[in-house]
Amino acid sequence: MSNLLSLKDIQAYYGSAHILHGMSLHVDAGESVALIGRNGVGKTTVVNTILGLAQMKSGSLSFAGKGISRPRPYTAAQTGIAIVPQGRRIVANLTVQENLLTGAATGRKGPWSLPEVYRLFPILETRAHTPGTALSGGQQQMLAVGRALMANPSLILLDEPTEGLAPVIIDQLAEVFNSIAAQGTALLMIEQNMSLVVRVCHRYLAMAKGSVVADGLVQNSRASLEDLESHVTV
Ligand SMILES: Nc1ncnc2c1ncn2[C@@H]1O[C@H](COP(=O)(O)OP(=O)(O)OP(=O)(O)O)[C@@H](O)[C@H]1O
Ligand SMILES: [Mg+2]
Repeated sequence: MSNLLSLKDIQAYYGSAHILHGMSLHVDAGESVALIGRNGVGKTTVVNTILGLAQMKSGSLSFAGKGISRPRPYTAAQTGIAIVPQGRRIVANLTVQENLLTGAATGRKGPWSLPEVYRLFPILETRAHTPGTALSGGQQQMLAVGRALMANPSLILLDEPTEGLAPVIIDQLAEVFNSIAAQGTALLMIEQNMSLVVRVCHRYLAMAKGSVVADGLVQNSRASLEDLESHVTV
C-alpha cells in the first residue's frame, strides 16, 4: 500500500508551550489506524499540527507524496484530509443540510454527496432543515462524520468520535466506520474506547508525552483489548 500521511520527527508548539516531542507516524492509503494515549499526551495536537493550528517548528509532514511545509486547514481539505473534530463543532446557526454542505466547500469529486450521506444516516435527512445544534449528541456526531464525507477525502482524522455517546450509538458508528474503511478511505482515529478500536482499526500507535511510545497490530481479541487498555488507563 502507498504511504498517504507521514509525520517525521515533529516538534510542535502552541506559542511557547512545547507539546509534540519528535512525533512520527504514517498512515497508508486505505488503512485504519488508532492513535491512543492518556488525556493530555498530545493526540489532538497531532490533528492541529496537520491543520497548522499548532506550530510545527521542525520535522516534516507529507500527504500523498507531497511535502507540506506550511499546513493550513483549507489546504488540508483541498488535498483530501477531512476532520471530525473533538467536540463535533457543529455550526449553531446552520441547518443540518447547511452543515453538510460546508463539508463540500472544496468541490473535490468522489462518491459522497448529499443523497449518499442521507442514505448512510437517514435520520439526518429527516432533520435536514433543523438547526444542527438541536440534534442529540449521537446525531450531531453523525452530522460531523457526514460533513467530513462530503469533502470526498482520502483520509479522515476522527478525534474521539464516540466521546459521551450511548453504547447503541457507538455500535452504529462502528459499522459506519467499517463501511467507510471498506470503501477505501483511510482512517486515523483518536479514541479512548478500546472496544471500538478493536472493531474498527487494524493497527495502533500509543502516545505518551508528545511522541509515539508503542505500536502494533490490533486483533479483535481479549488479549489485544487488554494490551490497548494498558496504554490508556491511569
Ligand atoms: N491552545 C493551547 N495552548 C497551550 N497549550 C495547549 C493548547 N491546547 C492544548 N494544550 C496543552 O497541550 C497538551 C496536549 O493537549 P492535547 O489536546 O493535544 O491532548 P490530548 O491527548 O488530545 O488530550 P485529551 O485526551 O484530553 O483530548 C495538554 O497539556 C494541553 O493542556
Ligand atoms: Mg484531545
